[in-house]
Amino acid sequence: MAFLKVSSLQMSKRCLLQCGAFWKPGSKLSFHTSPKMPPCDFTPEKCESQPYDHILKIRKQNFSPLVSTYFQKPLLLHQGYMQWLFDHEGRRYLDLFSGIVTISVGHCHPKVTTAAQKQLGRLWHTSPAFLHPAVHEYVEKLTALLPEPLKVIFFMNSGSEANDMAMLMARSYSQNVDIISLRGAYHGSSPYTFGLTNVGAFKPRIPSGSSCQATMCPDVFRGPWGGSQCRDSPVQTIRKCDCTSGCCKANSQYVEEFKNTLHTVVAREIAGFFAEPIQGVNGVVQYPKGFLKEAFQLVRERGGVCIADEVQTGFGRLGTHFWGFQSHGILPDIVTMAKGMGNGFPMSAVVTTPEIANSFIKKVNHFSTFAGNPMVGVIGSAVLDAIKEDGLQENSQETGSYMLLKLANLRDEFEIVGDVRGKGLMIGIEMVQDQESRQPLPHKEMNLIHEDCKDMGIILGRGGLFSQTFRIAPPMCITKQEVDFAVEVLHSALSRHMEKRSKGKL
Ligand SMILES: Cc1ncc(COP(=O)(O)O)c(C=O)c1O
Repeated sequence: MAFLKVSSLQMSKRCLLQCGAFWKPGSKLSFHTSPKMPPCDFTPEKCESQPYDHILKIRKQNFSPLVSTYFQKPLLLHQGYMQWLFDHEGRRYLDLFSGIVTISVGHCHPKVTTAAQKQLGRLWHTSPAFLHPAVHEYVEKLTALLPEPLKVIFFMNSGSEANDMAMLMARSYSQNVDIISLRGAYHGSSPYTFGLTNVGAFKPRIPSGSSCQATMCPDVFRGPWGGSQCRDSPVQTIRKCDCTSGCCKANSQYVEEFKNTLHTVVAREIAGFFAEPIQGVNGVVQYPKGFLKEAFQLVRERGGVCIADEVQTGFGRLGTHFWGFQSHGILPDIVTMAKGMGNGFPMSAVVTTPEIANSFIKKVNHFSTFAGNPMVGVIGSAVLDAIKEDGLQENSQETGSYMLLKLANLRDEFEIVGDVRGKGLMIGIEMVQDQESRQPLPHKEMNLIHEDCKDMGIILGRGGLFSQTFRIAPPMCITKQEVDFAVEVLHSALSRHMEKRSKGKL
């Protein structure tokens, strides 16, 4: 049984718990319960790490300073098992962010780990110039999961590389240059994809990503239009609308904006349009149902191809479908995938039609050393098997919907929870100063709640242009019992936060 260490602060919270006291608004003495973590029958090994302070020193002195860490005292993680993470001191955390939506089937999933270990002892690398059984078997399995005519796979090593490749394909096939993507989209951080990524913090101050144009993101919570039935989620926004079934005024207005972009900032003929089925980095932003369908049609009328970036949404995470684009009732010309595809092993792919693939290879002689090596084949295959055998897509649907509905209660209870949204196990909780203004909750307050949740044993992600959204995308094996625990932790952290607020202690 894993041992959960507690800080003195947590210890005092536990004592209060035993007193049975809890917070009520306005109460003078306010106590909080520290929710009890569900059991886990895995015991981590002892961590043989250099001292924590030394690790921090290396991080500060020798690591690229670009990536900041979460939390005042960054977590030093040592081991993982399915939905659990263990730090260097053996503390256990429920992982609700999966290493940025990457652990699909579970940390060190036994089936995937065994397959990888076997292959590590057999053959690591050949090169695309040779055949290897595993990668061919994998291609057969993966293409079977994609609709006709999406049947030709190009392997890459990361999501950015896959999107780079998809941009090249769109341009070479269409013989046009302009590519459109949505504001708030994150499609990668390579010199080419910088043009597609429309998050200011990621925009470089050097020339890159030319001939890419951003269009309005049809964000039905934060955007100018939105209502009470726009999105494909068990939870709708708090905005009201009088749309009747089959009509969505917000959608029509966002489509008009899309048309404006086509009329103003791109050439008459375009190369393509990129969209995530649900925006991940932007804080799990969902568009009105039907938006992508209309946008795809408009793009095709202009000679462009449509690209679905499934880096976060693919592999069953959205529950109802294996791919996010299927939930919009659309058929892209190119699909890109990474992250959950390898459950943490670096691999990615671009899938397209034979027509686009053949036109591409006439113009571009692309080569990648590691792409589709034996490890990729074995691990990719084992991940697909685990998704199927463990019923993970079904669990995403069932447990994700369960979680969304429970989180919606938090929105009804706490004024600073502006929106709860998502589909399956891709969930966002957008935090606001108040539900009326919908202004983002300040960074400092976000950090306090985030840190408090971590201290109680859950790891949340962050997203949104102002880092105002908590992101939840756990390994798809999470259970309802663990969801209950996570929601209790959030409830406790929000209660405490509101209490501090009411006392002017922030
Ligand atoms: C939707 C999406 N596309 C592409 C990427 C880029 O993937 P990578 O970091 O593997 O290059 C990301 C990464 O977060 C992503 O979320």
